[in-house]
Amino acid sequence: MTIARRAAVAALCLATAAVTAPAMAQTTITIQHPLPSNSHYGAGAQALKESFERATGGRYRVNIQRNDNEREIIESVQIGTVECYIGSTGPVGNFVPAVRVVDVPFLFRDYAHARGVLDSEIGQNILQQFNARGLVGVIWMENGFRHLTNSRREVHDPGDVRGLKVRTMENQVHMRAFTTLGALPTPMAFSELVPALQQGTVDGQENPIPVIVANNLNQVQRYLTLTGHVYSPGLLICNPAMMQAMSPADRAAFMEAARAGQKANRDRVSADEASGIEELRRRGMQVVTSVDTAAFQAALASAFAQYERELDADTLRRIRAWQ
Ligand code: PAF
Repeated sequence: MTIARRAAVAALCLATAAVTAPAMAQTTITIQHPLPSNSHYGAGAQALKESFERATGGRYRVNIQRNDNEREIIESVQIGTVECYIGSTGPVGNFVPAVRVVDVPFLFRDYAHARGVLDSEIGQNILQQFNARGLVGVIWMENGFRHLTNSRREVHDPGDVRGLKVRTMENQVHMRAFTTLGALPTPMAFSELVPALQQGTVDGQENPIPVIVANNLNQVQRYLTLTGHVYSPGLLICNPAMMQAMSPADRAAFMEAARAGQKANRDRVSADEASGIEELRRRGMQVVTSVDTAAFQAALASAFAQYERELDADTLRRIRAWQ
């Protein structure tokens, strides 16, 4: 056989193999999160995607989408039309009440305390409570410490919050705190926030610095007060059937990818925290740094007593004592 004829036969064999070989089955996992791709959730989702797709040699594809209604995403994950959620604990307590314990104001001292507790047995115990609610709590992510913005006045102490209409997440623990401070909490999905601020339906809102920066909330809010009144944990939550359908090896690779996502997410929160306040000043926000934290805590005394009665008091005590 001539070289040319041999090459032609080889090409024909390859083409036949390509036609007859079964196509590699590919499973798509959709992760929805509520922020722009260039955000701390976007960073977490992207790192997870890269790690998992690499580890499974393309058998899995991860599709990242934005949906700024967190409750809607969780409902979709529960019924299985979306596989996974990355977002805050904001509305999660309405699905898994045990989560509410980590939404208590002034509970975590700083990022090291919050991350340490959530990665410890305390945080893992809370994640296990998701199973009974038709969800899998895969890993803790992070949103950040929340700060108050508004369009009316500088806020230094609790008296300044009185009478402010503040958008909160659909979160009973947070709403209780703002009611106790004499504000008028107005729960709504994040998707409704900017129009509500523009139309004056609410005067203010509260969110971590990375969220305020990534969503240009400086365009609709003049005053920022570094209240750091509550740590806002993030979560990766997935659909149980999707997790069960994975082989043990793929599930291990998914957990590894979730850890890579957690690291990228937290690193991004730290980086945005470091640069964000200066950036917001540069964009024209008036930033109040002198906050009377002790006065805020004292003003919340009756709310704290209620949390002790209604939430898991032992877990609250263990979180406060965590070193
Ligand atoms: O304010 C909220 O609803 C949340 O903090 C947000 C911005 C959706 C991020 O989880």
